[in-house]
Amino acid sequence: MTDESTLIQPPQEVLDQANVQDWKALLERADADPVAFWEGEAAELEWSHPWDKVLDDSGAPFYKWFTGARTNIVSNAIDRHLTTARRNKLALIWVGEDTSKVRTFSYFSLNREVEQMANILLSMGVQKGDVVTIYLPRIPEIYFAMLAAAKIGAVHSVVFAGYSSEALNARIDDSESKVVITVDGSWINGSVFPMKKIVDDAVRFSPTVENVIVVRNTGSEVSMDPTRDHWYHELARLPIAQGHCETVQVDAEDPLFILYTSGSTGKPKAAVHVHGGYQVHLSSTMKNCLDIHEADRWWCTADPGWITGTSYVIYAPLIRGATAFMAEGSPVYPYPDVWWQLVEHYGINGMFTAPTAIRTLMRFGDAWVTKHDISTLRILVSAGEPLNPEAWRWFHDVVGQGRCSVIDNWWQTETGAMQVTSLPTMPKKPGSAGRPIPGQAVAVLDEQGNEVPAGSDGFLVLKNPWPSMLRTLFKEPQRYVETYWSKYPGVYLTGDSARIDEDGYVWIIGRTDDVIKVSGHRIGTAEVEAAVTSHPAVAECAAIGLPHEVKGNAIHVLVVLNTGYQGSNELAAEIRQHVSQTLSPIAKPDVIEFVDKLPKTRSGKIMRRVLRARALGQDEGDLSTLEND
Ligand code: WT7
Repeated sequence: MTDESTLIQPPQEVLDQANVQDWKALLERADADPVAFWEGEAAELEWSHPWDKVLDDSGAPFYKWFTGARTNIVSNAIDRHLTTARRNKLALIWVGEDTSKVRTFSYFSLNREVEQMANILLSMGVQKGDVVTIYLPRIPEIYFAMLAAAKIGAVHSVVFAGYSSEALNARIDDSESKVVITVDGSWINGSVFPMKKIVDDAVRFSPTVENVIVVRNTGSEVSMDPTRDHWYHELARLPIAQGHCETVQVDAEDPLFILYTSGSTGKPKAAVHVHGGYQVHLSSTMKNCLDIHEADRWWCTADPGWITGTSYVIYAPLIRGATAFMAEGSPVYPYPDVWWQLVEHYGINGMFTAPTAIRTLMRFGDAWVTKHDISTLRILVSAGEPLNPEAWRWFHDVVGQGRCSVIDNWWQTETGAMQVTSLPTMPKKPGSAGRPIPGQAVAVLDEQGNEVPAGSDGFLVLKNPWPSMLRTLFKEPQRYVETYWSKYPGVYLTGDSARIDEDGYVWIIGRTDDVIKVSGHRIGTAEVEAAVTSHPAVAECAAIGLPHEVKGNAIHVLVVLNTGYQGSNELAAEIRQHVSQTLSPIAKPDVIEFVDKLPKTRSGKIMRRVLRARALGQDEGDLSTLEND
């Protein structure tokens, strides 16, 4: 057991090697003047024109960073390495689900691939500011596509490769993409997931899509519309794809990407991130908080369709000139030691994964890990949901063999990069996400906006603006202000409940809004409910998250059927399948429960709080607003 007072000292090996030896001094320096701290971090990167101002808060909460500066994240992720000896070092090692398939790219050859993709996008008329939708699995082309879009000043919108055609269609239409980049299919546990087919269904009625670029990946049969679809390998042979492609210098505040994420309402919202501040924040956290440098091989197992992947799979390792490692497959296929086999074979130094993966692997037992020599590991990182003390210890003792730094870190799609973590040399508290990163300050507030005493629960807020912050919600500036900046003036509302203990460590409790974290994925109850009610048998329903040992939360849906339908196991299975197909397999409900009615307020709002309390056998709380029979 671990309680909140447990402090675990970092292993000697970590202390010996850490880049930041005196973490207290760093935090003190950054706290004393966050803006000066960020300016110093920015000075390590390349800018084609310097900034006039580091932070412009005159239009708050529409903050701006490094105003007047010109740059491009690709100048820092690739171009600047090409004039040094890093040109010939490995930028990317990729291993397929069939681990005998390996592709490697030096910085030099990665640049060639990105130039080729960028030339093709330009030939299709993609212009600065246009949104390019990327629907690709974890294959090298997802690097090429994202970096190519960024290189020419376009905006990427990566949609997670597990989303259904409906979800993809909604994101393509909302972003008005003219180009979609996809594959024939992706490998999932030995079978092919038909991604091109999903794109076909998604773009059939899309008014904006003119071109679909299809990477050949599985070699499976797909239908190609000659007026719209192009094989990437055929485009790559054309003269238009050849030759140098200039990295367009953009304004530091120009958008780099949008990433859709679930919120409290059915319509997913897209966080807008920009070139300038985002690259600074990634560079800084990778160096100070994760201690990953040029000589390291870095494996973040996340998918670039989620923010962890965009930030710490694609951009952060390249900005630091490290070698990124990417694996196409899952942690348990074909065997639950495939990850450790890869760590052993490729000599991975730093690994970043999610609690759900750690708990899944833990259940298979230690022997799968200990039979491999994974002694190259130095940094072990977890994010996405709380890393419970038991999983923390397993990660630390069994995977890290007591020699590694286990680094939990808290942040969000909206924050772009980490906000709360523990630096390698900082003593750890298993189960806590750590302390605010250098330059950030957090607080826990009560309903009225007062800071609660140490150890009490409340709403977690971020007190300082930060360089990688979302600039707005795509096309919804008002929703940006309302969601994040309206409950309390001047501070960013995270949507999480948390407490801060007497030592200043942050303990995340969970979401305070209608968002469920399932295996680290953020799923809106409204999205699940919309998918469930689109089934003809369903009259209405309510989705809630209940604790689950491996996934953190499981989705339970209470369903009221239309007259003429009877609840049965078959119907429950059918509804679960329906959600999997119309929304995504990651949102598939674990349990469908048929009920006669749902508890509602007199104004007709479903009281999920009451449902959750009932399911957990807890006190139902204040029922005064509950509608009478
Ligand atoms: C939500 C954001 C880490 C970025 C990827 C997820 C939860 C995230 C932790 C953590 C406890 C965590 C929060 C947050 N969360 N990291 N280390 N400990 N909870 O980004 O999908 O936008 O989800 O994930 O609830 O608000 P996201």
